Amino acid sequence: MRHLMSPLDFSVEELDQLLDLAGDIERHPEKYAHACDGKKLATLFYEPSTRTRLSFEAAMLNLGGSVLGFSSAASSSASKGESVSDTIRMISCYADICAMRHHKEGAPMVASAVSSIPVINAGDGGHQHPTQTLTDLLTIRSLKGRLGNLTIGLCGDLKFGRTVHSLVKALARYENVTFVFISPEELRVPSYIKEDVLDAQNLPYREVERLEDVMADLDILYMTRVQQERFFNEEDYIRLKDFYILDNKKMSLAKDDMIVMHPLPRVNEISVEVDKDPRAAYFRQVQYGVYVRMALILTLLEVKVC
Ligand code: NCD
Repeated sequence: MRHLMSPLDFSVEELDQLLDLAGDIERHPEKYAHACDGKKLATLFYEPSTRTRLSFEAAMLNLGGSVLGFSSAASSSASKGESVSDTIRMISCYADICAMRHHKEGAPMVASAVSSIPVINAGDGGHQHPTQTLTDLLTIRSLKGRLGNLTIGLCGDLKFGRTVHSLVKALARYENVTFVFISPEELRVPSYIKEDVLDAQNLPYREVERLEDVMADLDILYMTRVQQERFFNEEDYIRLKDFYILDNKKMSLAKDDMIVMHPLPRVNEISVEVDKDPRAAYFRQVQYGVYVRMALILTLLEVKVC
């Protein structure tokens, strides 16, 4: 039985197969409409979510399966003091697969150690968010036609943004990817990512503060929100929250075929005027998230569709 804790749990070849499957689902959704008849997905969300939880649920429903779960710690027995290990042992009796989001780094890993059903990490604290990364890889492959030979700018809260941490790890495995980290000093990408992932493989990267200085070099601009819930003090959040605002003026500096991605939710970091720009890919990214989660559920449940 397999779980998904980190995007690196799949080899590059396995990821290719998963993205191919997601592509086939996009083209022929009817083929998969009953692939999970009679199967259940549990969504255990101890932390708020709109897209991730609902896209998992939509994915399972699109496959003919059903869903159960909770959407906040307050509405689960966690509020009575139940441990993650006990909860997952019980959920294993109700469902065939589960997706878990937790504010504590490593909680889904703890669950996977005692679970008798596949556990998917749907975001653990400021650590990893592997299914957002699968979504991002499918979006990049679909819209740019490749996962290598790219210059990607990651902008915003690179310290607490788990989507950034997972995406850097995943993209570092492809040829000729250059990373440009755009953040204020306080929100720089953690040193464990720089040392263990980038320096360890001699991968080139730059750290800058001004978005305007690098806009023209980018094939992809990955914007992120400042993660208010992970700040220790409100004053720092208020000072940093509007550090970057992508608007049409900044977009005019970019290549014609650059794409703008964002895991969403957006707060102020992308002005709504940019939504009309054909390079804005963040709402298309949401749709790719459903296809890729369908492919992931099929893969972890080992369901084959001919
Ligand atoms: C991201 C997350 O939860 O980490 N959202 C998502 O899952 N699409 C990004 C965020 O909350 O800023």
